[in-house]
Amino acid sequence: AIDLRKLRKETGYITFDEGYGNTGSCKSNITFIDGEKGILRYRGIPIEQLAEQSTFLCSAYLIIYGELPTETQLNAFRSKVAGAARLHENFRHHFEGFPSKAHPMAVLSSMLNSLGCYYPEMSSNNREQDLELFDDAAALLISKVRTIAAMTYRMSLGLPFNFPRKDMRYVENFLHMMFTEPYDEYEVSQEVADALDLFLLLHADHEQNCSTSTVRMVASGGANLFASVSAGVGALWGPLHGGANSAVVRMLEEIHASGDDGSRFIMAAKNGKARLMGFGHRVYKNYDPRAKIFGEAAERVLKALGREDPLLDIAHHLEQAALKDDYFIERKLYPNVDFYSGIVLKAIGIPVEMFTVMFAIGRMPGWIANWKEIAETSNKIHRPRQIYTGYTKRDYVPMADRG
Ligand code: ACO
Repeated sequence: AIDLRKLRKETGYITFDEGYGNTGSCKSNITFIDGEKGILRYRGIPIEQLAEQSTFLCSAYLIIYGELPTETQLNAFRSKVAGAARLHENFRHHFEGFPSKAHPMAVLSSMLNSLGCYYPEMSSNNREQDLELFDDAAALLISKVRTIAAMTYRMSLGLPFNFPRKDMRYVENFLHMMFTEPYDEYEVSQEVADALDLFLLLHADHEQNCSTSTVRMVASGGANLFASVSAGVGALWGPLHGGANSAVVRMLEEIHASGDDGSRFIMAAKNGKARLMGFGHRVYKNYDPRAKIFGEAAERVLKALGREDPLLDIAHHLEQAALKDDYFIERKLYPNVDFYSGIVLKAIGIPVEMFTVMFAIGRMPGWIANWKEIAETSNKIHRPRQIYTGYTKRDYVPMADRG
């Protein structure tokens, strides 16, 4: 292997890898992906086994602490998370400060950073101290990110906020905070709870994606967990990353409204006039295993709810057409996790503008585990170089001479 650091010191050369497609930015033992074969494993355990046998909180524990929890450990983790769900009363003032049309991702990012202000002892930017209180901070973030999301939704509609309940499990509690109305408690169906739990589990980590790399970048400078995950939310927001799940549903709705079955859209994508959202991936050059699991979950949840969604038919048609088309075959473009997830969220009743927030709730354990890994193992600040393309050198021009 070439020692790049030595090479740089001796020659001044740097490697140029736009978008880091071929750059390993760290060593990590959290999540494994083989993009050619379509394999994803959390701490060595295949995603298919976790999807079938685990829950979001159990997988979160696995991702953060490296081992599947015993029953006692899982119960302790669950009650720590359940006990941390309430927000400080003063948070109301933060929410009231936002315009009613504020995007929930902007609210979430600000609120996560603000949260750190309520726990200065956990967000000291002193690694030793932040790590000492890590267990509390991790449970708190996994719990409160869900409360913040529900509160953002209720506030955006001008509805009263529902307090979290200690007797409810993670997903049920979230659905209660979102949808219970005064005098009309939201009844959580098992199918809906299972589908949402699966959604969160499948999003829980995905090695060095854009938002997780952002979290690690911020953490590498020594910043605390709250500031690091808040930055992760900003990175997740974009349509090429977490924003793709809402973009897929908007795309499917547009196709439906136009009367197209998807064929015209495929042509537009091939001609570079549109992008088939929910298709393609930087790492997967095969089927994203999460898309496969979700495609089946979408069928299941719609059936259980006794609903039909024409968007699912369009999605199937787009997928079948793309899988047979040379443009997509040559570029190895397959459905990614976002292709079917929006249909599942829509069926559950989550509004489209909240989809990426749901992704953030799911990704929280992965961000936390990556922050911990950096804090425990590395003191090296992340600091990439660049290829400078500007002027070599020129003199300052006084205002009077600038024309
Ligand atoms: N529709 C049509 N063409 C596409 C698509 C797509 N969705 N994705 C890639 N291509 C084409 C590109 O135009 C390019 O073609 P060319 O070689 O003729 O120029 C080729 O495939 C390679 O594409 P890149 O953009 O270079 O691939 P990259 O690895 O940089 O991007 C990405 C990956 C961002 C996911 C891309 O496939 C995309 O934009 N997909 C749609 C958005 C999406 O679904 N994002 C979610 C990703 S998963 C996640 O973050 C959870």
